[in-house]
Amino acid sequence: MRSQIWREAGSLDSKGYFDEVAAQWDGMREAFFSDAVRQKAISVAEVQPGRIAADIGAGSGFITEGLVRTGVKVIAVDQSEEMLSEMHRRFSDFPSVECRLGRAEALPIEDEAVDYVFANMYLHHVDSPPQAIQEMVRVLKPGGKLVISDLDEHSCEFLRTEQHDRWLGFQRGDVERWLAEAGLQGVATDGLGEDCCARSECGEEFAAVSIFVAHGERTGPASGFEAGVDTPGRS
Ligand SMILES: C[S@@+](CC[C@H](N)C(=O)[O-])C[C@H]1O[C@@H](n2cnc3c(N)ncnc32)[C@H](O)[C@@H]1O
Repeated sequence: MRSQIWREAGSLDSKGYFDEVAAQWDGMREAFFSDAVRQKAISVAEVQPGRIAADIGAGSGFITEGLVRTGVKVIAVDQSEEMLSEMHRRFSDFPSVECRLGRAEALPIEDEAVDYVFANMYLHHVDSPPQAIQEMVRVLKPGGKLVISDLDEHSCEFLRTEQHDRWLGFQRGDVERWLAEAGLQGVATDGLGEDCCARSECGEEFAAVSIFVAHGERTGPASGFEAGVDTPGRS
């Protein structure tokens, strides 16, 4: 079944691809990287219980699960109805988790609504990473923190053709610049000390790509944010 999805990935758009793999995503994710990724991402933000977080490109809830354990409320956003169905199944007993269907360009969250935004393995799937970052910063309260965990730049083309990656990772300097241009302070990136590993279904290729975590804090108005512009989620 998984092989078939990989063979067909080229004929699907990103949403179609993630709808197809949603039921198997937890198993796929475990093969790609370990739970240490979310521990590191959450520790970087120094999450405090009782606060509110957004998990963007939440998938089936890998980051959300870790956040719930720390006692924060979570708004989980994804473009894929099937991924959100998995989330509903997993968190139906957790009133602190709210799932919302939405896309990178217009997140269904009001301005300055959350204390933390997390995005794990999401940025390399969006059309415009700088625009997606601006949109994530828009929903952060002043003093709120953005934490992005993603792949360093690599050359494994099969991740594009078989797994719908839009970008072959990033240079950390570019991600730091996008965070700073979006208005964040104290921007930094660290290595996560782990590789994301994947084997091509169509050949012998194997990817072992290092993972970074980029973070910054919103201290004032987000740059690129124009008050009064009417987009979904804005009040
Ligand atoms: C590689 S998965 C990561 C899922 C989850 N964060 C995890 O770590 O397991 C990427 C997720 O981002 C979502 N996604 C990709 N592009 C998106 C977009 N433009 N807008 C909203 N969600 C998007 C996909 O539907 C998918 O669930």
